[in-house]
Amino acid sequence: MKFKIFNTYPISISLSPNTEEDDIKLALKLIFSPGKWRKGGEISVLEQEFKNYFEAKEAVSFNSGRSAFLAILKSLDLKEGDEVLLQAFTCNAAVNPILYFGLRPVFVDCDRSFNLDPEDLANKITERSKVVVVQHTFGQPARMDEVLKICDKNKLILIEDCAHSLGAEYKGKKVGTFGKAAFFSFGRDKIISSVYGGMVVSNDPEIGKKVRDFQKKCSFPLSSWILQQLLHPVLVNYLVLPAYRFPSFGKIILNTLQLTMVLSKAVSKEEKRGKLTSYFPKKFPNALAILALNQFRKLEKFNNHREKIAKIYIEELRDRFEFQEGLKGTKRIFMRFPILIKKGQDTDKILREARKKKILLDDGWRKTPIVPPDTDLEKMRYRVGECKNAEDIAKRIINLPTHINISEEDARRIAKLLKKM
Ligand SMILES: Cc1ncc(COP(=O)(O)O)c(C=O)c1O
Repeated sequence: MKFKIFNTYPISISLSPNTEEDDIKLALKLIFSPGKWRKGGEISVLEQEFKNYFEAKEAVSFNSGRSAFLAILKSLDLKEGDEVLLQAFTCNAAVNPILYFGLRPVFVDCDRSFNLDPEDLANKITERSKVVVVQHTFGQPARMDEVLKICDKNKLILIEDCAHSLGAEYKGKKVGTFGKAAFFSFGRDKIISSVYGGMVVSNDPEIGKKVRDFQKKCSFPLSSWILQQLLHPVLVNYLVLPAYRFPSFGKIILNTLQLTMVLSKAVSKEEKRGKLTSYFPKKFPNALAILALNQFRKLEKFNNHREKIAKIYIEELRDRFEFQEGLKGTKRIFMRFPILIKKGQDTDKILREARKKKILLDDGWRKTPIVPPDTDLEKMRYRVGECKNAEDIAKRIINLPTHINISEEDARRIAKLLKKM
């Protein structure tokens, strides 16, 4: 049934993009097995598989990347007002854990790889700077040699935000192994997905222990929250996505399911205004660990497919659009394939035209240096104009889908449509 749906329309960048038939069946089975929802053996199996994959001393799971990041910050013994440097063109979920502890986010501009610009990083360091968070945007590793050098010279703690980059490498070394600790996300449209979920990976015994102790003190999410996440792959694939064949109708169905709390949103209203909700931080529930484990075992297949689709976009669109710069010596994971349209052109118009052809390209990573677009920048402590490159990228970006449910034919259709515009 699912393949019928995906072989026709719509083509969508978001809306549970990684789920295959086995993932949906697994979620369905789990809905009817509430005894497995909270505690269970799969949590530690997933943690162990992460430890093995990264050859790391510790891997500690949480119910989201933002909870995992919060746990790392908690382990660092920082004081209120200490500065955490991170790049602009990020998600509010990467800023809120900083605000949660009364720390000060300092935004660094990005380069043409859409990652932290080392030169701007060096310029923004002050006496209060304590931590640098390096994000590997859309799976493109950042300029780690330069970032490491700056951290070393200024005695700054390096944390990696690997929410987009599970499987990527920098000079033959996996991203997530460069800093004191790294965090990963299994959010609904990430590299692998259990709708919500996250992991801390660390080779530092002291941080590893503190994060583990913190996890022990966290409670499990409510059963109603776990059920919401289990319903997500099922309802999105069998109800919401088919309804999106008529995009306005699909939107009504999705909004109704979210308003009635049958499905969760990726970020809440409160989070867009700088406040974490009581859903975070929490332990990773076993049912979602089962989903994440099933996806983690398909990581290579997913990332190989992404690369194949990205090659089609490169081949078809290289003469027409500016791309995210790929850096030498990096193995990139194409979580999305971003293109930049010409200055002065309107991305809204292009997305509207694509929507008419039942191609849904709006993934929320656009318009503003801290996404999604209705995030309150002032509450994030971002001053408009402070990161000009990030703002320029946000204005001109359109992300193209690369996930496992996009066929080569879909990619060529998308490219053809963009070329016409
Ligand atoms: C760059 C980045 N960092 C951190 C996060 C937080 O991950 P999560 O949604 O699992 O809390 C996200 C996703 O929302 C993200 O895109």
